[in-house]
Amino acid sequence: MAAMLLALHSIVRWAVVLFALLLLSRAVNGVRTRRDWAPADHRFGLGFIISFDLQFLIGLALFHFSTLTPDSLEGFKGAMHVPALRFFAVEHTAGMVLALAAAHISWAKGKRAADAARRFRTVAIGTGLSLLLVVLSIPWPWMAVGRRLWP
Ligand code: HEM
Repeated sequence: MAAMLLALHSIVRWAVVLFALLLLSRAVNGVRTRRDWAPADHRFGLGFIISFDLQFLIGLALFHFSTLTPDSLEGFKGAMHVPALRFFAVEHTAGMVLALAAAHISWAKGKRAADAARRFRTVAIGTGLSLLLVVLSIPWPWMAVGRRLWP
């Protein structure tokens, strides 16, 4: 079960990153050209939020099934000295939860914005911040605690 969830989590990462890049580039384009909010902006936004929520749920399930994090949560103090345990139990999870919060808050605030220009600006800032946190929290292959780019 853990192996299947981990593989799924590894794949869905690319949906999150891709939707974030597309939404960010559309929002920046909206700010620069002062165009109206379009149905495609909405579709990319929903794609980002839904893929991120799915990734969050898989991540939570991993805490339950993974051989790595349950151990780390049991002996929390000791685990802080083991880089891989510390990374997944604390750094990866905290970074991703903050990124998820930035995505949700900016998407919701954007919906309540008075006009399209303000909506694009809010979504661009929130999605940019969220993407930065995601990129900083991914276990890239070149890191000591790194994983493969594809399962
Ligand atoms: C939102 C909350 C998230 C939580 C709670 C979470 C949690 C976890 C956990 C517990 C692991 C497992 C470590 C293991 O057992 O080996 C993991 C691995 C991983 N996570 Fe997350 N994660 C989250 C979001 C994300 C996001 C948004 C991305 C990328 C966009 C991501 C990318 C990865 C990758 C690439 C791995 C390694 C997969 C592999 O070994 O192939 N995670 N995550």
